[in-house]
Amino acid sequence: MNKIEYRVEHKDPPVFTPEVVIFDSPEEVDRYAASCLIKKIQEEKATALTLPTGTTPIGIYRQLVEAYSQGTVSFSKVRVFNLDEYWPIDPNNPSSYTSYMKQHFIDLVDIKRDSWDIPNGAAIDPNKESHRYEESLKAVPQIDIAVLGIGPGRTGHIGFNEKGSLVNSRTRYVELDPETATVNSNFFQIPQDIPRGAITQGIANILEAKNILLVAKGQSKTWGISRSLNGPIYSDCPASYLRYHPNVVIVLDRQAATSLG
Ligand code: PGA
Repeated sequence: MNKIEYRVEHKDPPVFTPEVVIFDSPEEVDRYAASCLIKKIQEEKATALTLPTGTTPIGIYRQLVEAYSQGTVSFSKVRVFNLDEYWPIDPNNPSSYTSYMKQHFIDLVDIKRDSWDIPNGAAIDPNKESHRYEESLKAVPQIDIAVLGIGPGRTGHIGFNEKGSLVNSRTRYVELDPETATVNSNFFQIPQDIPRGAITQGIANILEAKNILLVAKGQSKTWGISRSLNGPIYSDCPASYLRYHPNVVIVLDRQAATSLG
């Protein structure tokens, strides 16, 4: 009789449960997230951060700028890589993420100008620019903390990794999901001017960070949060890939946590 040997192949990476911290108010979320970053910067001699844009982190940047003004923290040895930028867009356009970062953070603290990188929305070739950005990320051995928001409604995106993004995706040009484009067009003076695409760090870039801090506030995030934590890990909700990372903290206000019970 032939003996059949079955070999079990573990193709799937291990799955972890993110730590979830819930606060009553958005202001407490901002204070907590900022304090995590400040602690990390104070503990390490030099820190590399991946930072997000959007409505969610504005209060976090406010806290960081205040801490800097009070002399609690210095960003002089910090390197910052942004998650994404629209493409094509003039970096001087007030709705670009480059302008956002200058307005809320970069121009208000002591970070060295050449220690901040963000995809160039004015690059002629988005693929070449994605390659440049990918190489730039290699300037640091590892990102210490990647701070993320999560897309509204049923987008489930992190960065501009929209539905369909793969776990091994890296910095690249992507087209905005129609739901993302509708929501984000509100941040453009003429909503129709929103670019169709963006250059974003990929899922693999994000998962390579030592620590991940995802921040979500408000009701528009309930589906994404619940689906990421309790649903299948799948490309229809790219934030669900975060469960492949062992050090994820998800900071929520009560509204964003509504569906967690
Ligand atoms: P928001 O965007 O902070 O403006 O909600 C988050 C995101 O789209 O990732």
